Amino acid sequence: MTGSHPGENAGAAARQRYAHNAPARFADDAADMNTPLLEVRDLRLSYRTERGLVRAVDGVSLTVDRGETLGLVGESGCGKTAFARAVMGLVPASAAERGGSVVFEGEDLLTLDDKAMRKMMGAQIAMVFQSPLTSLNPVMRIGTQIIESLRLHRSLTKAEARATAADLLRSVHIADPGGTLRRYPHQLSGGMRQRVIIAIALACGPKLLLADEPTTALDVTVQAQILDLLAELRRERGMATVLVSHDLGVVATRTDRIAVMYAGKIVEYGPTPALFHQTRMPYTKALLGSIPRLDAKGRRPLNTIPGRPPSLLEPGPGCRFAPRCAYAQPRCLAEEPPLRDSSTPGHYFACWNPIGTER
Ligand SMILES: Nc1ncnc2c1ncn2[C@@H]1O[C@H](COP(=O)(O)OP(=O)(O)OP(=O)(O)O)[C@@H](O)[C@H]1O
Ligand SMILES: [Mg+2]
Repeated sequence: MTGSHPGENAGAAARQRYAHNAPARFADDAADMNTPLLEVRDLRLSYRTERGLVRAVDGVSLTVDRGETLGLVGESGCGKTAFARAVMGLVPASAAERGGSVVFEGEDLLTLDDKAMRKMMGAQIAMVFQSPLTSLNPVMRIGTQIIESLRLHRSLTKAEARATAADLLRSVHIADPGGTLRRYPHQLSGGMRQRVIIAIALACGPKLLLADEPTTALDVTVQAQILDLLAELRRERGMATVLVSHDLGVVATRTDRIAVMYAGKIVEYGPTPALFHQTRMPYTKALLGSIPRLDAKGRRPLNTIPGRPPSLLEPGPGCRFAPRCAYAQPRCLAEEPPLRDSSTPGHYFACWNPIGTER
């Protein structure tokens, strides 16, 4: 990689787009348009386990711009949730080691104490967790849960909080907000529960939403509805989103940029069209090959990626994908490739023998 930090160039495009589309109430933010909303540098998160340190996030650097959607994709266990948790500070210090910096609006979140971090969470950055069932309290009515989170951050009377809660449910297209506020989580469908969770995340108008596999537990139709809803909310509120998924197909049409993660590291990163049409990293290509295609002629089995994801306990010296990679050369097993520029601005990849190289 030369000179600039990954994402700076692509970020400028997203910033321009945002400046153009931004609603008037975000005009104040325009002054900060030239700095990313979130800048993560060399983020590291290791879990202490009986077998040693699991390096779940191993030196990740990326930026998220105001109003953009960044997709974070990779196979199960590659560290996507660990990344989101490390950003939000949702890791017990006793169980994990965290390093690097997470600069949000000019402030390094890793240096904040618990109280300052709690203030930041919800109000500025919100997260939709991977398992919707455990995100809601099963014995509390939906209304109580939304009102509780509203009153945590905003000084509202009970009546104001109730009215705001109903408005929030309306904004996530729940048809009967009054009735839904009185229900318990088990009385709602999976799709409705996920809408409620998104409403809670939006309660304080965060500037950044980390959505960790927000649709995994839902059927395909509801999945599309929830992703459409997130896109709509992002447009209306100018809210940046990190959309975490193990499915490149899910993020393909709904992101400005994509970061591909493998074994705790970013291995390819850039504008979504470049990732799809000028793929450089063989792992990204393999992920693309595992997306089902409706236009495929005849019956073709889905490609799977051969081999197993590597252990995050003691990663070898070379590229972590090398043992599974059809393009691997001796150097790939011996020396770790750094993230470097491709010919497209803002597109980076980590590979010694990328796709498109003369062989
Ligand atoms: N609390 C924990 N203690 C020890 N190891 C953990 C803990 N949480 C996660 N890990 C390990 O960290 C690695 C990354 O896990 P993570 O949950 O971030 O993966 P992921 O990419 O989100 O996967 P998925 O797509 O299945 O959600 C895995 O090897 C996992 O086993
Ligand atoms: Mg996860």
